[in-house]
Amino acid sequence: MLEPESLVIYGFALAIPAVYLTYRHFYVPSRATPQPASEPTRKPLKSIMQAPREDLAPPKDDPYTTEELKQYNGSNRNLPIYVAIKGTIFDVSHKSDVYGPGRSYSIFAGKDGSKGLGMSSLKPEHAIADYSGLDEKDRKVLDDWHSFFSKRYNIVGKVVDPPTSSL
Ligand code: HEM
Repeated sequence: MLEPESLVIYGFALAIPAVYLTYRHFYVPSRATPQPASEPTRKPLKSIMQAPREDLAPPKDDPYTTEELKQYNGSNRNLPIYVAIKGTIFDVSHKSDVYGPGRSYSIFAGKDGSKGLGMSSLKPEHAIADYSGLDEKDRKVLDDWHSFFSKRYNIVGKVVDPPTSSL
């Protein structure tokens, strides 16, 4: 049994990287608020993420089963690469350097890996559609990812057989 002091230390040890990762992933420098002339000019932190796009196509509602979605995991170069979040399918083909086979986030390609996105986890066992076990904080992270993808990738359809418990 762990002492309460150890639990606090472990809690911080886990929370600090989680907060840092979320911050690094979602930080977008504000260009809207100019600094007063008297203030020293602060250099805005540069986001490591790609910028939102202005040229997205109108969202499509085409139905895909989980089984059909699998072929869009980048292993067939003649097919686009799809990532689904909360049942919404995004075409991430132009980021094959990130989602293609063997790349950093290939675990999310050709499937709905909502739970892993919410948990900030790249473990294969977490990359599943059923996110019903996520707490409020992780659901917020998941919603942020959905919003992030919606601003950057074309929506090509929806998963028609999601696990009922994630609805
Ligand atoms: C030390 C740990 C991590 C570092 C240094 C890191 C770094 C990065 C970087 C540099 C990008 C921008 C990639 C690009 O646009 O080319 C990125 C994007 C991303 N990261 Fe991480 N990451 C880490 C952990 C994670 C974890 C645990 C997850 C699990 C959810 C995750 C999910 C993502 C996703 C989904 C993107 C968006 C890619 C896109 O579509 O633009 N990352 N990360």
